[in-house]
Amino acid sequence: MELRIGIIGIGNIGSAHAGAIYNGQVKGAVLSALCDISEKRVRELEKTYKDVPIYKDYIKMLDSGLVNAVIIATPHYLHPEMAEAAIERGINTLTEKPVGVYTKGILPLCKKAEEKGVLFAIMLNQRTNKLFSVAKEIIEDGKIGKILSSHYEVTNWYRTEEYYQSANWRGSWRGEGGGVLINQAPHNLDLWCWLCGVPKRVKSVCREGAYHNIEVEDDAIIYAEYENGAKGTFITSTGIENGKNRLEIIGEKGKILLEGGRLTLSEGEAITTYLDEEYNGHLNILNNFASAIRKEAELISPAVCGLDSLRVSNGAYLSSWKGDWVDLPLNEDEFLSYLQRKIENGKQICLEGKDSDTCGTYLSRWGTSW
Ligand SMILES: NC(=O)c1ccc[n+]([C@@H]2O[C@H](COP(=O)([O-])OP(=O)(O)OC[C@H]3O[C@@H](n4cnc5c(N)ncnc54)[C@H](O)[C@@H]3O)[C@@H](O)[C@H]2O)c1
Repeated sequence: MELRIGIIGIGNIGSAHAGAIYNGQVKGAVLSALCDISEKRVRELEKTYKDVPIYKDYIKMLDSGLVNAVIIATPHYLHPEMAEAAIERGINTLTEKPVGVYTKGILPLCKKAEEKGVLFAIMLNQRTNKLFSVAKEIIEDGKIGKILSSHYEVTNWYRTEEYYQSANWRGSWRGEGGGVLINQAPHNLDLWCWLCGVPKRVKSVCREGAYHNIEVEDDAIIYAEYENGAKGTFITSTGIENGKNRLEIIGEKGKILLEGGRLTLSEGEAITTYLDEEYNGHLNILNNFASAIRKEAELISPAVCGLDSLRVSNGAYLSSWKGDWVDLPLNEDEFLSYLQRKIENGKQICLEGKDSDTCGTYLSRWGTSW
C-alpha cells in the first residue's frame, strides 16, 4: 500500500518532516499534500515543492482524496481538533507532541480511531533512543527489581528570549497552554512514565516567567508518589545554559543511571555500561508509522501514550496553582476552569502575527541532548 502523506503546519518541525518524506527517507511513503495558513509560508512552499499540492485550509486537504495519512505539526491547541477531523475521515494520523494541551477529550479520540480502524500515533521520537530502550528492557526483565525511587533532572532545554518571540503562539497560556512542561519536557515526562509508571499523585512548583519575559512556566519541579509506594522527582527548565540530562532509577535489586550518553546498570557488585548511538528519532517514528499502517510493525508510540505525560504536566500545573497535592488522573473540568482563568488573565506578551522561520531539517536540539 502506497502511503500518501499530507502535512498540516509547515513550520519548524513540519518543514523537516516534509523534507524527509519528499527526499524518500520514509519507506513506501510519498509527500502528497501540504497545508499552512500562513500566506508567506505557502509562497515559500510553492517554490520548494513545485509538484506537491498546497492548501491553506486543512479540511480541504483532508477532503481532497489525495492523502491516506496525515501529520499534524501545528501549535499544540490545534492537535486534537485536527486529529479528530482526520480520524473522522478514516485517515491515519500522526500528531506532534503534545497530544493536546489538556487531557479532556483525548481518550474518546483514541477510541474513535480504533472504531474507524485507523492508526493514531504521536511523535515521541526520544523513545527510539538506544539507552532508553535498554533501560526499558532492564526494568521489564526485572533486573533492578521493584522500583523504589526515580530522579530525573532535565535542565538542558535552554531557550533564548528570541525563541519565545519567534512565533506568536509561544510562551502564552492562550497560544501555547503552558511552557517547558507542555513544549519541551513532554519527551522526558513520557520517558519517565514509560519507564517508571504514571504517578498516583503529584505536588509541584512551576515558576512562570522565571528566566524569560513570558507568562508561562520556564522552570518546574515535580514531586511524585506512586501506587506501590515509590517516590520520584522531576526537574526541568529552559533558563539554564549549562543544564543537564540525568535520570537515576533505584530498584530493590539494583539501579540504573543515564547520564552523559551512557547507561550504567548496577546489580550488587556487578556494573554494566551501555553507550549511546547516533539516531534520528523523528525518522524512526515516521518509518514506524508507515510500517504499522502496512501492518509490518507495532506502533512505538500510539497517541494514547501521549496522555501519560499530559496527565502529569496538567497535574503539575494544577498542583502549583492550588499549592496542593493533585491526584492522578486529575479532575479534567477543574483543570480546564483553572486554565481558562490563566488564559483570561494572561498578559499576552507574545508578538501577534509573526511567523517563525523554517529550517527544513531536523535540529539537534530536538534529539536526546546529554
Ligand atoms: N517532536 C519534536 O521534536 C518537536 C520539535 C519541534 C516542535 N514540535 C511540535 O510541533 C508543533 C509545531 O511546532 P513548530 O516549532 O514547528 O511551530 P511553528 O510555529 O514553527 O510552526 C507551526 C506552523 O503551523 C501553521 N499553522 C498554524 N495554524 C494552522 C492552521 N489552522 N492550519 C494550517 N497551518 C497552521 C503556522 O503557520 C506554522 O507554519 C508543536 O506542537 C511542537 O510542540 C515537536
